[in-house]
Amino acid sequence: MKDFSGKVAVITGGASGVGRSLAFALGRRGAKIAVGDVDGNAMEQISLDLAAENVEAIVEHCDVTSVDSLNALADSAQDKLGGLDLVFANAGIGAGETGAMWEYSEKDWQWCINVNVWGVINSVRAFMPRLVAAGKPAHFVVTGSGNGAYTILPDAPIYTASKAAVHAITENLHYQVQAGGLPVKVSALFPGPHVVDTGLFNSGRVRPEDLKKEGEGNESGINSVDDMKKMMAEFGMELQTTHPDEVAEMAVKGLEQDAFWLLETTPETDEKIRARAQMILNRETPVPAMVG
Ligand SMILES: NC(=O)c1ccc[n+]([C@@H]2O[C@H](COP(=O)([O-])OP(=O)(O)OC[C@H]3O[C@@H](n4cnc5c(N)ncnc54)[C@H](O)[C@@H]3O)[C@@H](O)[C@H]2O)c1
Repeated sequence: MKDFSGKVAVITGGASGVGRSLAFALGRRGAKIAVGDVDGNAMEQISLDLAAENVEAIVEHCDVTSVDSLNALADSAQDKLGGLDLVFANAGIGAGETGAMWEYSEKDWQWCINVNVWGVINSVRAFMPRLVAAGKPAHFVVTGSGNGAYTILPDAPIYTASKAAVHAITENLHYQVQAGGLPVKVSALFPGPHVVDTGLFNSGRVRPEDLKKEGEGNESGINSVDDMKKMMAEFGMELQTTHPDEVAEMAVKGLEQDAFWLLETTPETDEKIRARAQMILNRETPVPAMVG
């Protein structure tokens, strides 16, 4: 898609972080934006900020764990903004798990799988039939993570498992639209190349009451990118970060080329991907990879 002007873009989890930056990157290129999120404060803020930039937008409560909620957002985008051209299944959370996985709270697993995996499945089920029925060029973009898609970092098994599933769904969706000869392009967005400075490490702010921990499970003690930087510094390492605006610009440029991989890597990441493939081919015993 070369021209975003007048196109309607729906962004789940669009009130903060990568989603928020996508809203501005596309809004500044003339797109109309429908943000769905569950964080009331962030929704209020982006509503004001988009209006201040004269971006035509709606900001609505939408919980991706409910397909009804996503259908309502899709209806709103079509009724109030006049169409549906780009869908970003972007909402995601970090469950903050740490320690041995057999001691995790069951509610950590449920919350993360509900939002990260069911959120994408529900988005596919709510939006794809509409994009297929419209029969015109459209984009369906899923925010995944390299952690799960091509590396297995050792410190967040629930998140990693959720993003492995997300990537499998995304790649299969891509194969299926191709097999059907549909004009919908599917892309896999990987925020990076470094840890992206967003609210992901403070996801507890939007954790639903019924899935709060009840005493079981450890707390990682990491509630922000700054906490992560401090922890790395204790091990004598410096954590590099990426601003979400850079991710959004990378994504938009990739969409202009109809790219599947919206992925920016560093030479170190490339080496990790290569080494992982080689490790499998050599049947070597895995050793833990590092974050960053
Ligand atoms: N930050 C990173 O380094 C990084 C790296 C790889 C992938 N990602 C992915 O990027 C995506 C965006 O996350 P972010 O880093 O911008 O974090 P973020 O916390 O800033 O943004 C996530 C948004 O999702 C919303 N959200 C949470 N639960 C929701 C629900 N049930 N329904 C609707 N919205 C919900 C939050 O309110 C928030 O606005 C996620 O899928 C995340 O897994 C982030």
